[in-house]
Amino acid sequence: MSAPLSAPVSAAGPLTQLIYASRPFGFSGDMLDDILMAARRNNRRDGLTGALVCRADLFLQLLEGPREKVTATFGRILRDDRHMEVGLIWVGDAPARLFPDWDMLDDPARSWMWSREAVRDGAMGRASAAEARAVFQRVAGEVGL
Ligand SMILES: Cc1cc2nc3c(=O)[nH]c(=O)nc-3n(C[C@H](O)[C@H](O)[C@H](O)COP(=O)(O)O)c2cc1C
Repeated sequence: MSAPLSAPVSAAGPLTQLIYASRPFGFSGDMLDDILMAARRNNRRDGLTGALVCRADLFLQLLEGPREKVTATFGRILRDDRHMEVGLIWVGDAPARLFPDWDMLDDPARSWMWSREAVRDGAMGRASAAEARAVFQRVAGEVGL
């Protein structure tokens, strides 16, 4: 019998999800390409999947996979000088991946997400885990998962 698709990462322990928000530092298309290229290469190697919502004033990322890989990757991301004010919004175990087919989906921030004014006024610092998770659930729904 084959394992159900939603099975947590087995050999490596439970499936962990982590969501953080940050502010890009010197945002450009080239910078985003560089981030995504490294992210996808490493995430394939590490068994991580997820999505990165990006706009000139905002990064919002969901990482999911084996806990120790999620933690190690977040450690590198925290030290990355291409963004600042990295704020952890949620970390915990999850029953299934939201983005099983994406080593890192990139998604432009849309009108139904936080406005630039809201971000400027500190909305990301106040965002609840439920709000942030809802954003990624909607993004996952829109890409047809
Ligand atoms: C917004 C943002 C998102 C990132 N996402 C990832 C990621 O999902 N996976 C990853 O390995 N690195 C990610 N990085 C890059 C890391 O900070 C780091 O540069 C990279 O992991 C180093 O990999 P390397 O040693 O293979 O060059 C991200 C960086 C930024 C600024």
